Formats: sequence, C-alpha cells, structure tokens
Amino acid sequence: MLSEKWISAVLLLHLCCTGSGSCGKVLVWPCDMSHWLNLKIILENLTDRGHEVTVLVSPDSLIIDYSKPSTLNFEVIPISQDGDFLANKLNDFLDLATTVMPTMSRWQSARKMQEFLLQLTGHLKLLCESVVYNKSIMKKLRETNYDVMVIDPVVHCGELIAELLEVPFVYTLRFFMGGTVEKYCGKLPAPPSYVPVVMGGLTDRMTFLERVKNVMLSLFFDFWLEPYDIQLWDQFYSEALGRPTTLCETMGKAEIWLMRTYWDFEFPRPYLPNFEFVGGLHCKPAKPLPKEMEEFVQSSGEHGVVVFSLGSMVKNLTEEKANLIASALAQIPQKVLWRYKGKKPATLGANTRLYDWIPQNDLLGHPKAKAFITHGGTNGIYEGIYHGVPMVGVPMFADQYDNIAHMKAKGVAVEVNMITMTSADLRDAITVINEPSYKENAMRLSSIHHDQPIKPLDRAVFWIEFVMRHKGAKHLRPAAHNLTWFQYHSLDVIGFLLACVATAIFLVTKCCLFSCQKFGRTGNKKKRE
Ligand SMILES: *[C@@H]1O[C@H](CO)[C@@H](O)[C@H](O)[C@H]1NC(C)=O
Ligand SMILES: *[C@@H]1O[C@H](CO)[C@@H](O)[C@H](O)[C@H]1NC(C)=O
Ligand SMILES: *[C@@H]1O[C@H](CO)[C@@H](O)[C@H](O)[C@H]1NC(C)=O
Ligand SMILES: *[C@@H]1O[C@H](CO)[C@@H](O)[C@H](O)[C@H]1NC(C)=O
Repeated sequence: MLSEKWISAVLLLHLCCTGSGSCGKVLVWPCDMSHWLNLKIILENLTDRGHEVTVLVSPDSLIIDYSKPSTLNFEVIPISQDGDFLANKLNDFLDLATTVMPTMSRWQSARKMQEFLLQLTGHLKLLCESVVYNKSIMKKLRETNYDVMVIDPVVHCGELIAELLEVPFVYTLRFFMGGTVEKYCGKLPAPPSYVPVVMGGLTDRMTFLERVKNVMLSLFFDFWLEPYDIQLWDQFYSEALGRPTTLCETMGKAEIWLMRTYWDFEFPRPYLPNFEFVGGLHCKPAKPLPKEMEEFVQSSGEHGVVVFSLGSMVKNLTEEKANLIASALAQIPQKVLWRYKGKKPATLGANTRLYDWIPQNDLLGHPKAKAFITHGGTNGIYEGIYHGVPMVGVPMFADQYDNIAHMKAKGVAVEVNMITMTSADLRDAITVINEPSYKENAMRLSSIHHDQPIKPLDRAVFWIEFVMRHKGAKHLRPAAHNLTWFQYHSLDVIGFLLACVATAIFLVTKCCLFSCQKFGRTGNKKKRE
C-alpha cells in the first residue's frame, strides 16, 4: 500500500515536475469564442510547465476544438444536444449587432446584450445541471483531486463546481455585467467620481454632467439591469450546495482575479491585492508572414498596409455595408488586408484583398503596418498596443465600446459608427495614419506595455501556481467580504455617531430649556415679591 503510493509519487515527480518545483492538476471552466483564445495561452503554458490541465467543455462549443489532439485534456459534458441552438442564437445576435445595435443608445444596447444572455440562461442551466447533478462525473472529478480551478465567470457554474469539489479557484475576465461582479462580488472599490462605469464610454476625467451620467449608469447596472436571472441562479446555487447562498457570494470566493487589462489600457484606479492585471498576455513578437501575403505587403511600398478585421464572430455584412466599406478602402493609398468571409463586394478596390483568416498579430507586428481597423475586441486591442499601431474602432457590442473609448482617451484611436458611417467617414478616420500624434501615442503605450518587470503571462501562471502551492490566497482576501453593505459604507457607524450627536443636542437643549424656565420662574417670583 505504502510502497505503491511511494512509487506513484516518484513517477509523478519524474513525469510532471520539470523545473517548476511543483506540479498539479488544473480543472478549467472556459467560455467560448475570443475568451477561449486568451485562456488557452495560459493553459498551454501550464501544461508546458508540467501541470495536468483538464477542460470541461460543452459538446456544442463553437471554437473550442476538443476533438483535435492537444496537450490539454477535454472532458465533454454529457448534455443532450439541442441541435445548433447556440450557433443559431449567436447568429441572430450578430445580425442584430451588425445591423441595429450600433444605432442604439448605450442603455438600449446593454439591454439587448442582457436579453441575449437571458435567452441563453436555460441552456447554461442545463449545462450546469449536466455536471453538478451527474453523480458519475462529479465522482470522477472529486477523485481526481484537482489543486485549482481556472474559471471564466461569464459562463456561470464554474464557481459552483469549485465549491462542490472544495477546490480553490482563479477567475480570468475582462469585466462582467458592467463591472458589478468585480465591484460587489469581488469588492473592488470603484468610486463613481473618477472610475468610469464599464460600457459607459466615459473617461476618468469627468465634468459634472458626466459624473451625473456615471452615477446613473452605475445605478442602472446595479439595480435595473442586473436582477433578472440572478434570482434563478441564487436559488439554483442554494439547492446544489444545500445551504442558502447567492451567486455573488459564491463568486466572491475567487482566490485571484486575473483581469485582461493593464495600466497601458486602464485609467488609474484603486484595486485589491487579489486582483492581477494581465492584459496582453497572448501577445507575441511577429513571425514571418506566408510568402504570398508578404509579397502583397511589400508591394505597398512606402505607404504601408492597413489591417482590417471585425473579429472572429462577424463573418457577414449586408451587401450595402460591405460595398460602402470597400469603396472607402479603395480610396486610400495603402494596401488593405481585410479579413472577411462574406460575398466579395462589387466596389472592392485593387488595393484591397479579402482573406478568410489573417495572422493578425504577425501583420500588426510587420514594419509596414500603418493602421488597424478593428471591432475593438480586447485581444485585438492588445495586439495593437503591443505593436504600437494606431487604430480605427468600429465597435458593435459588449466590451467593444469601452475598449475603443479607452483607446480614444489615450489618443491612439478614432471611432466610427458601424451603422451611420458613410464611405467618407471611414476614409477620413484612416487619417490616424497621417496625423503623427496617433502613432506617437501608440508607441508610448507600446513601450509602457513592454516595460514590465514580469511579463503578464508569467504573472498569470505564477498566481495559478501560487494558489496550487498554498491551497488558496486567503491572505489577500479583503475582510470586506464579511461585511454587510451598510457596514461596508460605515452607515451603521455614521448612524450611531449621528444618534450620539442628536442625543447630545437634545440633552443640551432640554437642559437649557429647563434652566431657562426655572430661571424665568424664579425671576417672575422675585418680581412678584
Ligand atoms: C510559457 O511562458 C514562458 C515565459 O513567458 C515562455 O518562455 C514559454 O515559452 C511559454 N510556453 C508556452 C508553451 O507558451
Ligand atoms: C453522466 O455522465 C456520464 C459520463 O461521465 C454519462 O455517460 C451519463 O450518461 C451521464 N448521466 C446522465 C443522467 O446524463
Ligand atoms: C450574409 O448576409 C446576407 C444578407 O444579409 C444573407 O442573405 C446571407 O445568407 C448571409 N450569409 C451567411 C453565410 O450568413
Ligand atoms: C468571514 O466569514 C467566514 C465565515 O463566516 C470566516 O470563515 C472567515 O474567517 C471570516 N473572515 C474574516 C476576514 O473575518
């Protein structure tokens, strides 16, 4: 018995611990799409360092390719697939995002995003039940004795599984629910006087009216937008854990929050020791381009090239929109590499080439890259920052407005509206190439980004390993988690002190009145005498 354990321990040491000192087992609850691309970089680095990484994956994942051989293990969740539900929903949403959402106000657009997520609630709950109520899966997970879970909180359930397995967990996110999750569940302080609400499109320097807007947006996210599916999840989590709890309380148990931004992007703000800002961890120096692409790029001469991508989600635009964009691009002297899968627009200029896929990072790192037209996803923005390329933002949904607002405030980007833009608007926006301040600001951000004592990927990996080694990071956890909201804001203390003052005033006035009356009476008496 003992010797068997000993042998397996030696084997494990031999197999796993190549240089890093300790190796462990990591369970991952991911989110699909661009979030996965970012998380995958961390996970592959963890396997590289000898850890065993297992990803719980939904069978209808769109880009998490669990059937391909990989250094990661995939555990496919046994869920009765309702056909292409997720893919269809996503397509509907993208139609909306590329046609009407950019004409809406921020509030309406946030509502639409929320509506979309609510439509997924049933699906997400089913996915969650398929794990936590499946005895054989839970038994298998429990017996594996994971050391840490790495979770993308945008898809609920990860934290519930971690609680059930009693495994410490690390979050990785850009922000969630307009920042309310970090603020209320993570206790990240966010004074509305100088910390703009995510999605509000404001900067940290606000006028009085902008501060009014910021406070209202913060109330909007706190009280109006949020409560919809929260109750459902609160109830579900309480049932699954067998004790009264809330989604927020469970989320607040995260040991470390790995945020996908950094001070090159963020406005300076207060943060907590268990928040680590690891934006740009996926960025790498550029590799050589494929031969055909390199020739095209070189053919641009001194004008250079413009890289254009609306991300992995938007594949198709209306014919009208695609023509409008193509005719704007045809008017600039640069060569354009446009990632686009839709029908070839009739107005496509000789200087523009369409590609199903482009090596975006390698193109942005190419010395001929002059500008980046982007939808403003966090990954793309960071590649732009890393390589110091000025940007033209065409935001459509989610964090994109906020990302572009940050880049505008830093003097790196110009924004155009997807819906209302004319050909001339887009063409004029590409003046980020001719106006030197954009390039200078981009280079400044780039040098800030590169000048870090420890690279973001190494910090992300360090904190995950730290949580494995120490079974959590409780010493970084603020005591704010144990306070009620009125204790947190010291309202009880203020109330108490006010009561003291009120009592004192009351007593003093009473005394005064009493002695005045007495004095008055004795005075009267004296007069009468
Ligand atoms: C992991 O990160 C380290 C440090 O950044 C790097 O040297 C190494 O190549 C990375 N490994 C993988 C597989 O990405
Ligand atoms: C539970 O998970 C196993 C796979 O681990 C699967 O074979 C089984 O069908 C699942 N049970 C239910 C009730 O879904
Ligand atoms: C692209 O959009 C057009 C018009 O909006 C539509 O007819 C077509 O089916 C779409 N194609 C794909 C592949 O989504
Ligand atoms: C907070 O409360 C939990 C449980 O109620 C307790 O275990 C923990 O020690 C408390 N933490 C602090 C900082 O008071």
